[in-house]
Amino acid sequence: MVKLKKIGNIKIIICQDKQEVAQEGAKIFAEDTKENPSIVLGLATGETPVGMYQELIRMHKEEGLDFSRVTSFNLDEYVGLSGDHSQSYRYFMDDNLFNHINIDKAKTHVPSGIAEDVSVSCQKYEGDIKAQRGIDLQLLGIGSNGHIAFNEPGSPSESRTREVGLTEKTIKDNARFFENESEVPRKAVTMGIATILEAKKIVLLATGSNKAEVVARAIKSPATTDIPASFLQNHPDCVFVIDQEVANGL
Ligand code: F6R
Repeated sequence: MVKLKKIGNIKIIICQDKQEVAQEGAKIFAEDTKENPSIVLGLATGETPVGMYQELIRMHKEEGLDFSRVTSFNLDEYVGLSGDHSQSYRYFMDDNLFNHINIDKAKTHVPSGIAEDVSVSCQKYEGDIKAQRGIDLQLLGIGSNGHIAFNEPGSPSESRTREVGLTEKTIKDNARFFENESEVPRKAVTMGIATILEAKKIVLLATGSNKAEVVARAIKSPATTDIPASFLQNHPDCVFVIDQEVANGL
């Protein structure tokens, strides 16, 4: 049984463990997709959403959850990695979700990490989101330094899709996905904080004791560029789905 809480604008769903976080997250995505089959989803990569994607795949296979009219936009991509690189976020999305559901791949968008002109490609990404009349439901994880997408501490609230440098902390955190730390790209293309905050509804998933402190600061400290996730306090429809280990920090 989940517990519900609200701090300021932020609704909080407290789950027992990460399996329940995956189920509760998937429930929100499934319900909104059933209600609006042409929904525009914002999607995230990383370790946290994997269980939720597995649950959505199960719902597609066993319950006929239909993604055929869904459009998606991913948050970010490493600069220098093409979509066939096993650590690129395009590869991650195909492997962990898109290859296992009936989404039309032509309607799935991931920022390009290999664009010749990055700023033109970032502007086009923003334009493509606007052409769909914005993102209806945005999924987020949170970095241990408070980043959302690759908006690292210091990112302005008005930032939009752009190339950014990754902090030492993020490079260290993400080294676990690569052979060694030196292989982690130093730059990424990311949606901005303003891009994210324009989504009509936002769901942030966080699990594990290493996220407890940063989630508490994101919810309770005044909104500050030091903790980019704290800008979510300004969003009118934002829910954090967290496990008990994260909730212990609140
Ligand atoms: C991924 C992303 C990142 C991650 C964050 C947490 O697309 O935008 O902000 O959500 O780094 O990553 P995990 O889930 O691996 O702890």
